[in-house]
Amino acid sequence: MINLNNNCYSLYIHIPWCLKKCPYCDFYSLRFLKNKKIIQNQYINSLLLDLKSDLLYTGHDICIENIFLGGGTPSLINPKLISYLLSEIKNIVHVKKESEITIEINPSSISEKNILTYIKSGINRFSLGIQSFNNSSLKSLGRLHTAEDAINAIRMFNKKKKLKINLDIIYGIPGQTLKNACDDIYQAISFKPNHISWYQLTIEKNTIFGQYPPKDLLNDDFLWKIFIQGEKIFKKAKYMQYEISSFIRNQNDKCKHNLNYWYFGNYLGIGCSAHGKLIDLNGNIIRTVKNYNIKQYIKGSFLLSKKKILNNEKIFEFFLNRLRVYNKIYKKEFMNKTGINVAHIDSFIKKALKLGYLQQNNDFWILTTKGHLFLNDLLEIFI
Ligand SMILES: C[S@@+](CC[C@H](N)C(=O)[O-])C[C@H]1O[C@@H](n2cnc3c(N)ncnc32)[C@H](O)[C@@H]1O
Ligand code: SF4
Repeated sequence: MINLNNNCYSLYIHIPWCLKKCPYCDFYSLRFLKNKKIIQNQYINSLLLDLKSDLLYTGHDICIENIFLGGGTPSLINPKLISYLLSEIKNIVHVKKESEITIEINPSSISEKNILTYIKSGINRFSLGIQSFNNSSLKSLGRLHTAEDAINAIRMFNKKKKLKINLDIIYGIPGQTLKNACDDIYQAISFKPNHISWYQLTIEKNTIFGQYPPKDLLNDDFLWKIFIQGEKIFKKAKYMQYEISSFIRNQNDKCKHNLNYWYFGNYLGIGCSAHGKLIDLNGNIIRTVKNYNIKQYIKGSFLLSKKKILNNEKIFEFFLNRLRVYNKIYKKEFMNKTGINVAHIDSFIKKALKLGYLQQNNDFWILTTKGHLFLNDLLEIFI
């Protein structure tokens, strides 16, 4: 058996509150009520217990390489609770000194004072949910903030030197024109953030948009036109595309947490609805899903399911994630991450090579231009 020699992990922490549910979002979130401070305190303490119980599966000698506080809206809760959480985590598990620690921020819930508290607590990367700089696009997305709020929030962060900033921008917003979509990119670039995540709006089944699709949704041809135009704008502005939706100014601006997902790395997921992928003490790769019911979660019922990932699932998931990143896939990397010998996937690879989706040499595979265009067809080979 190949040794899955990795005790390095990412840590995802889910903070499940929002001021209002956005009609396109299917992340687990609850309505934030200012007077419910007790439940927030309880939740933070439960996160720590949840982490301790994950360590029973992985063993205590793992180390955390990066932390991502996502949501929901982590910037809604008292930043002192976030500081407390991060310092207690460091008492439970080894967190590498140079770890990247990211927090998601909504432009409608941030202040200079809170930014300082975050920085003091060790947070060194801030991901701002801008979505658009156009007020009518923000309105169609049901966002509570305006373009002016977004700009003010970015300026607050830009005043501080050496902070890593990501801006989340969505395209394919109902009623959006090509010009509006391009203007959003131009405006995002004008603030010179290290990282821009440029997501196509996905219509998720269990959302308001999924149930009542907006009349002015964009069609696939038009979305493709926006994507091609957008890529050109990023390129001209010297932003490198290192993943389908991710653009950076410098090589070391890549989001370490997301890279770990795409490289099929290990991660612990704590908090309501969080997913994890870990290696248990027997060397099995395990998928964990945490409880979606906050009342049960706070009472200590953290785990909803824990399942061994089967070999065929590992192969598909590895390529599903790994092909998002535009670089060579080393055969050794496949073996180290999945524990499966490359000989085992020989027939799949031969098919992908024959169809011109991949090229290979002794050491690695690489996606061809055709593979880029027909990514879904290529992935089907690995199902
Ligand atoms: C889950 S949100 C959490 C951050 C924060 N609450 C916010 O909304 O700004 C993280 C990011 O996911 C993206 N997102 C959520 N739902 C999406 C969807 N259906 N399609 C595309 N992007 C989506 C948004 O860009 C958002 O900034
Ligand atoms: S997009 Fe962000 S603010 Fe909107 S519901 Fe989802 S997590 Fe909450």
